[in-house]
Amino acid sequence: MFTRSNRRTLAAAVVCAGALALGTPAMAGAVPAHQASSQTADEGIAAKAADKQGQKSQGRPDHAGQPGKPDHAGQPGPPDHAKGNGKGPGHGGGTDAPGQTQCQFTPEGGAVEGAWERDSLAGVAPEDLRIGNIAAGGGHHSDADYPDPFPSDPEYRDHVAQEYSSVTHENYLKWEFVQPEQGVYDFEQADAVVAFAEVNGMDLRGHALSWHSQNPDWLEEGDFSEAELREILEDHVRTVVSRYAGCIDQWDVANEIFQDDEAASIRDSENIWIRELGPEILDDIFTWAHEEDPDALLFYNDYNVDGLNAKADRYYDLISEQLERGVPVHGFGAQTHLSMQYGFDDSYQENLQRFDDLGIHTAVTEIDVRGEVDENDMMSPEDRAGAAERYATVLQACLDVSLCNSFTIWGTLDAQSWVPNTFPGEGDATLHEGDYERKPTYCILQRTLVEHEEGASAWEDDASFEECRGILEEAGV
Ligand code: XIL
Repeated sequence: MFTRSNRRTLAAAVVCAGALALGTPAMAGAVPAHQASSQTADEGIAAKAADKQGQKSQGRPDHAGQPGKPDHAGQPGPPDHAKGNGKGPGHGGGTDAPGQTQCQFTPEGGAVEGAWERDSLAGVAPEDLRIGNIAAGGGHHSDADYPDPFPSDPEYRDHVAQEYSSVTHENYLKWEFVQPEQGVYDFEQADAVVAFAEVNGMDLRGHALSWHSQNPDWLEEGDFSEAELREILEDHVRTVVSRYAGCIDQWDVANEIFQDDEAASIRDSENIWIRELGPEILDDIFTWAHEEDPDALLFYNDYNVDGLNAKADRYYDLISEQLERGVPVHGFGAQTHLSMQYGFDDSYQENLQRFDDLGIHTAVTEIDVRGEVDENDMMSPEDRAGAAERYATVLQACLDVSLCNSFTIWGTLDAQSWVPNTFPGEGDATLHEGDYERKPTYCILQRTLVEHEEGASAWEDDASFEECRGILEEAGV
């Protein structure tokens, strides 16, 4: 109901996967600033947009008895008409006309309505809740002994497309990737993820427009005046948001702006934007992003905001003030990186609810639940059970808070997750074993979704859920 894709029209019931797989990936590569977002709109895109207007939205299909998804193993590149941003020259004009922007990566034939097997997470989620995962690559993967999973592993991409209805770039939209040199934008990897989502009818969460981490050296070590920094930031935000206008449904506009001290003070030394330009810059970042894509939902996003605590209070106060001033803030994202080594606050839902009461969206944006692991990289049975319970509690909270619109898991396989790399000795934080076999945690989430939507008997009786019922029985859950 609230995500862009639910407003999308169904232009083609069947994706011509073969044609897409063969479509020439016209990856933008490294292109100078402005040029990337200033090419003329392709005529075909304009025609498709006109076509779409005459069609009635059909919402999400009934998943019962849906045929399997087509073969997703094609190259994830964009179709070769994907050049302009559909808005003519400049950064996009910033018209405040929701519903008008056509994603330039929409496949030939029109927007794809996703259809998921019933025996998946996305397939049993309510219409207004997207279940997401990441397009893994960049960041810690660059130091690993395997190539980036998203661009190199068709099995991985298939898995993500079959299970999930939303995708977040794990690293490819961060500053160090997108603007590796001053004024030189590189969208190659980011475009591929966007095209993949469009081909598979998935939503996109854009991560992140401003952050204190994973910024390029030229920025962090540069010697810029205030005016120059402001211009650099504005150019980046407008260039990136306009490129993906109509494609990216939600943006993490400001990531992790508060610290972990008792007062949860603002990150005014680590965050270059807040340090050099003051916290007032936050209003501008949201405003610029909104001008470039009035349809996109604009979020704050942070960790350690998993209950009624000081950091979450700071967000609540800041967002309340911004809303009063008319700043376009639309959402609050709780990353939800949890560890079994620490407690878990029973006010998780209450926290989301107070943002909901402000009339804004909430989202679980990066959940994983880790714990100490043994020589087989597994948590103890007690911790595994506890982790599954936390996952389910958070999902249930999101289901019960009306504007909570996505639940994104941060990783697919433990061997590729950021957790073992970032928290030595901890792991087992995702939903699948190394061969994509489902962990009991996966099945508990599936059960939570089915029971919420259809009641306990649907879970007990439907043959679609046989595999998970078996896994839970074996695990004694
Ligand atoms: C992590 C990535 O998963 C890693 O690959 C990278 O090395 C570091 O960043 N909060 C965030 C995410 O907002 O961007 C982080 O992602 C995880 C914590």
